[in-house]
Amino acid sequence: MTIKVKAIIGSTSSTSYNLKVVEYLQKKYSEKMEIIPVFVKDLELFSVDIERTPPENVTAFMENVRDADALLFAVPEYNFSIPGAMKNALDWLSRSNFAIKEKPAFIVGASMGVLGSVRAQLHLREILSNPMLSPSIMPNNEVYIGSIHQKMDEVGNFTDEPTIEFLDLVVNNFLQFYSKTKVMA
Ligand SMILES: Cc1cc2nc3c(=O)[nH]c(=O)nc-3n(C[C@H](O)[C@H](O)[C@H](O)COP(=O)(O)O)c2cc1C
Repeated sequence: MTIKVKAIIGSTSSTSYNLKVVEYLQKKYSEKMEIIPVFVKDLELFSVDIERTPPENVTAFMENVRDADALLFAVPEYNFSIPGAMKNALDWLSRSNFAIKEKPAFIVGASMGVLGSVRAQLHLREILSNPMLSPSIMPNNEVYIGSIHQKMDEVGNFTDEPTIEFLDLVVNNFLQFYSKTKVMA
């Protein structure tokens, strides 16, 4: 059975590199898992005033994520943190009756700078550690893709061999992590 991985795209950009990374993984590993991008860009701003009557697309977003076997977070870095749209989506998810709690997950992030979204990922991990979110994040596999514009061609294929090999390793590690998590559950 294929693992259904919902990939939360933290970018709101129509030319997002982080989306391209997810699309690359989607194509390359399609026999091992089904990666489905989930977008956060059209979600209304969270407010406690509307949390019991969320807009339809927010409800659909939360149910879409709840339906996942596993999660992939693709996070850009904005001003040393995660983009506001992604934080907003996580705020909604934190009020969605544990939609992502204990779901096996991994994180990737790409930026044009050399640090590859490391500061955003540190913040993301901190946010996700809240008990209302708390997915089960694969340890020891941190994917920081710096200088992404020099590592990918114009159709979204990686041209950088070390990155290709590293992503192979991480995806294989995730498949093992997923199996172990399921055995323990
Ligand atoms: C408002 C804004 C803030 C940014 N801040 C950072 C930053 O703090 N660190 C960094 O490495 N890149 C930063 N960048 C550059 C992004 O990493 C780069 O635009 C990247 O392509 C965004 O990911 P995306 O293509 O998936 O949208 C920033 C870009 C924008 C638009």
